[in-house]
Amino acid sequence: MRYIEFGSDNRKASEIILGLMRISKMTTAEVKNLIDAALEVGINFLDTADIYAKGVCEEILGDVLKENPSLRDKVILQTKCGIRIDDDFTWFDFSKEHILNSVDGSLKRLKVNDIDCLLLHRPDALMEPDEIAEAFTKLHEAGKVKDFGVSNMNPIMVERLATALPFPIVTNQVQMSCAFTPMFNAGFNVNMENDAAIMRDGGVLEYCQSNGIVIQAWSALQYGYFEGVFLGSEKYPKLNAVLDRLAAEKGVTNTAIALAWILRYPGKMQAVIGTTKASRVKESAAATEIELSKKEWYEIYLSAGNILP
Ligand SMILES: NC(=O)c1ccc[n+]([C@@H]2O[C@H](COP(=O)([O-])OP(=O)(O)OC[C@H]3O[C@@H](n4cnc5c(N)ncnc54)[C@H](OP(=O)(O)O)[C@@H]3O)[C@@H](O)[C@H]2O)c1
Repeated sequence: MRYIEFGSDNRKASEIILGLMRISKMTTAEVKNLIDAALEVGINFLDTADIYAKGVCEEILGDVLKENPSLRDKVILQTKCGIRIDDDFTWFDFSKEHILNSVDGSLKRLKVNDIDCLLLHRPDALMEPDEIAEAFTKLHEAGKVKDFGVSNMNPIMVERLATALPFPIVTNQVQMSCAFTPMFNAGFNVNMENDAAIMRDGGVLEYCQSNGIVIQAWSALQYGYFEGVFLGSEKYPKLNAVLDRLAAEKGVTNTAIALAWILRYPGKMQAVIGTTKASRVKESAAATEIELSKKEWYEIYLSAGNILP
């Protein structure tokens, strides 16, 4: 496993993160087995959120942590807040009151005293950085949260937050995969009169790279917005042919190649995987044992249906 330095104490964090959004139907024994598989291959970073299955995912992870007290110190534990799923509709809320309540709820469900990293999950248009700073300061001083990050935010939003926060934003979790590349498309098509030139993210990759903010790629194996996995999909015959060929050449699986493609970006990168299978966790780890050449990276990008000017 390859590691990056993460957070205020420069902790060694694995470049593969085990995401636990899909564990709501699993038993604690099955989740323990999944986490053990991750630890065996050097993955020491777990990602969850207050809203996953309305708290059930945190609850199950909390049961595992309680049943296995030595586990807590072996992992970097990250959760998220800021999305509210009410009975009538879902909305985003970065108010001080909601952030504080959400973290208390997460700590209770996770059955731990502290969270290593708390992410603001999706931008709240009405966010007030001073209020967020107050909430973060309170959480930090109470020893409840060590570091803070964001998710799905563009650079100007991160900058706006940074004006008020007494802590650095350590990570930005954004959607990115071989088959989900708007952040690259815009960069390749600067000033062109085509749709690929439309910049939807404000240059978030370049911004994070320049500022030492860890880029965490979520849904690392999906295309569209939760439309499905591109590996083995009839929608992506060329991409799969290239991934399979490179996998055979390098003695790893297509999963490892797809994740290595994400990690090849020259920033501080982590890929968040969401499998519920121990075998897939293990094959994912191999992504950090290989390095794609620049040409291989471009071949994968082009085989997913993209074109260069
Ligand atoms: N910040 C955000 O807004 C945000 C949004 C979404 C997700 N996330 C985070 O990102 C994590 C990963 O997201 P994700 O679960 O969408 O990631 P993913 O790894 O792209 O997708 C996981 C899904 O793909 C399936 N899968 C994996 N490899 C496969 C293969 N070779 N063939 C067929 N199916 C395969 C898995 O099934 P099996 O379980 O059967 O392997 C699972 O259902 C989440 O757990 C969460 O922590 C964050």
